[in-house]
Amino acid sequence: MPRVVLENVKKSFNGIVALEDINISFENGEYACVLGPTGSGKTTLLKVIAGLVKPDYGEVYIDNKRVTNIPPEARNAVYMHQQYALFPHLTVGENISFGLLARGVRKEDAMRKTLEVLEIVKLRQWADAYPHELSGGMQQRVALARCLATGAKLLLLDEPLSALDARLRLEVRNELARIAEELDLTVIHVTHDQSEAMSLADKLILLRNGRIVQAGPPEEVYLKPNSIFTAYFVGESILLDGVIRRINGDTAFIELRNGMTIETFCDESFKEGDLAVVAVRCEDVIIGEGPLMGLLKEISFLGSFSKIIFELPGGLKMSVNIPLTDFIKSDLRVGMALQLAIPKERTRLFKYPAIGIAKEVEAV
Ligand SMILES: Nc1ncnc2c1ncn2[C@@H]1O[C@H](COP(=O)(O)OP(=O)(O)O)[C@@H](O)[C@H]1O
Ligand SMILES: [Mg+2]
Repeated sequence: MPRVVLENVKKSFNGIVALEDINISFENGEYACVLGPTGSGKTTLLKVIAGLVKPDYGEVYIDNKRVTNIPPEARNAVYMHQQYALFPHLTVGENISFGLLARGVRKEDAMRKTLEVLEIVKLRQWADAYPHELSGGMQQRVALARCLATGAKLLLLDEPLSALDARLRLEVRNELARIAEELDLTVIHVTHDQSEAMSLADKLILLRNGRIVQAGPPEEVYLKPNSIFTAYFVGESILLDGVIRRINGDTAFIELRNGMTIETFCDESFKEGDLAVVAVRCEDVIIGEGPLMGLLKEISFLGSFSKIIFELPGGLKMSVNIPLTDFIKSDLRVGMALQLAIPKERTRLFKYPAIGIAKEVEAV
C-alpha cells in the first residue's frame, strides 16, 4: 500500500519526448488508471516508477523515500509487462515458484507462497497444469499471481487485459479490483481502454504526448473535462466549433458553422467574437424537441445503447446515443426529420485550439 510521488519527471528517447513535467502522486491503497492513446508515454511512466527507466530529470519517491537512483528490486514494486509470458514447459506452480527460488527463497517457503498466491487468484487446483491447458483469462491470473508472489505492495500493470476477449476482460477486471482491495495494494494500471479505466479507477490520469492533461476521480474527469482532448478521449463527445456572437451574463450564444446557434455557459475568459468549441456528450442530446433540425441518417444497434446519426443543415453530423430501452419505445426511423436540443448545462465551452480541432484530438 505504498504512496508514490513523481516530481517534475522528464524523459526523452533520442530527442523524442516520452514524458514531460510529470507531477503526480498515487496514494496508499489507491487504484489509479493511466489512460492515453498509444505513444502517449504510459509504459514509460510505469517503467520510471518501477526503476526500469531512469528519468532525465525529476525525482521518484516511494513512501517518502527518494528512489530515483535505487534499482527496481529495492523498490517494493512489481511491473507486469504488457507482453507478459509464462514458461510453457513449466507448470503453473513452477511458473510462480521459479522466481522465488531464483531469489534464494527456501523450497518449502516457495511452495507455500506459490499456493497462497494461487489461492488469491482462485487457481489453486490448477497448480500442476501447464499454461496451455488454461484459458487466456486464467493465464493472465497466473501472471498476476507471479507478481503477487514477490510480496510487492505496489503493482504496476501495463495494459494487463488487452490480450483478452471482451468477456474475459470483464472477469479479470473484477478479479483485479477484488485482489487490490483484499491485499491493500497500491495499483497503477495503464490502459488505452476508457471503460476499463472508468470502472476500475479511484483516480484517472489522462496522458497526451507525455504530459498529464487531467487527473482526478473518473466521474470528475468525465463530467468536467478540462480540455477538448479530455472531452474527446474520455466518453464520447460531439465537438462543434463556431463564433461567440453574443454573451449575456454567464450565457454565450455560439453561431455554428452551419448558421445554427446554440447556448452554452461561459466564464469571463471568453469574449464576443472569439472562436470556440462546444463539447457535448453523445448521450446528452435530446431528440424530439429543440432549436436544431436534423435528418436521421443512420441507426446502429450497439448492445445497451443505439447510436443515431443526424445530419444538420450544412452537412454537420451529430451522433446521439440513446439507451436501448428508450430506443425500443421510440419509433425512430432513417429518413425522419427531427428537432434536437443540446441542454445548456450539459455543454462545455473551450477556446478554439491554435492547431485546429483535428490535431488537438489526434491520437498521439
Ligand atoms: N526505449 C525506447 N526507445 C526509443 N523511443 C522510445 C522508447 N520507449 C518509448 N519510446 C517512445 O516514447 C514515446 C512514449 O512511448 P510509450 O511510453 O511506450 O507510450 P505508450 O505506452 O503510451 O504507448 C513514444 O513516442 C515511443 O516511441
Ligand atoms: Mg505501452
